[in-house]
Amino acid sequence: MARVPKVELHVHLEGTLEPEHAFALGQRNGVALPYASAGQMRDAYRFSDLRSFLDVYYRACSVLATERDFFDLTWAYLERAASDGVRHVEPFFDPQTHLARGVSMKAVVGGISAALEEGRGSLGISSRLIMCFLRDEGAASAAEVLDVAIEVGRGRIAGVGLDSAEVGFPPGLFAEVFRRARTAGLHRVAHAGEEGPASYITDALDTLGAERIDHGVRCLDDPDLVRRLVRDRVCLTVCPKSNVSLRVVDRMEDHPLRRMLDAGLAVCVNSDDPAYFGGYVADNYRAVCSALDLDPDEVVTLARNAIEGSFAEEARKEELRRELAAVAS
Ligand code: HPA
Ligand code: ZN
Repeated sequence: MARVPKVELHVHLEGTLEPEHAFALGQRNGVALPYASAGQMRDAYRFSDLRSFLDVYYRACSVLATERDFFDLTWAYLERAASDGVRHVEPFFDPQTHLARGVSMKAVVGGISAALEEGRGSLGISSRLIMCFLRDEGAASAAEVLDVAIEVGRGRIAGVGLDSAEVGFPPGLFAEVFRRARTAGLHRVAHAGEEGPASYITDALDTLGAERIDHGVRCLDDPDLVRRLVRDRVCLTVCPKSNVSLRVVDRMEDHPLRRMLDAGLAVCVNSDDPAYFGGYVADNYRAVCSALDLDPDEVVTLARNAIEGSFAEEARKEELRRELAAVAS
């Protein structure tokens, strides 16, 4: 599976923080974690829903303090991703959780983008960085962070997204922020239809101008929406192991990815928060292949959907298509 050239469109950099690395950073910065050891931290990763995960995830973020920390976090992900055959990535980061602790946007974006640049040079992984707004922090906070990002992130942030607790925070609340992001030349994506209803997906398309939908598995509840997503080739960044860990689906064998593929939806496979959900992107491919009995052509379709759904330049997409064709033949 590592041989298939992959594009990863749904991975939160903070969600790649492995417990061992969290402990090392905590020591470096004098920040204590509420676990006796990295092993105990990993053992605590049993989630009942999205909220129970987010509480653990934000707490672990407290060890990230300096530009170097963000560089190291991103670099560790890129090295791991390279071994999984990732050739292009559009990672998310959550600035609000860091700004609230007094870390500057300059340190966050500086560290991440320096590692991404190095990844392009020495690992051959191209990238587009996406800044997510925490929907449970509301639109006023998102508007503030957008202003800072436009100033500090110019040329280094390619798009905006929407993540964190979904239910009760419909995408439409952020319409004005996304309109301003669009005017600033930024791409737009949004988590929708993970725990929230299919109507949040429609809302993200209509009110945010979302170009991709993150997760989107609940779209199957609305046949009209499925027809629209198929017609418009809207990419859905599905995260199978995340969905099982957060109880969006009971078992991998029940995962809707097979039905989504059969419906002609532009689905792709991603890791979401690999340090928390038991595997990186190739593990996610392997898990769905075995649980849903996907054949090699379906794996190529998944990989191709990610290329087409990416914000890579056309010339880069063409390279990626050629790399995929070389292993598919
Ligand atoms: N959903 C919403 N917010 C998130 C997630 C997720 O799966 N991972 C990190 N932030
Ligand atoms: Zn996510």
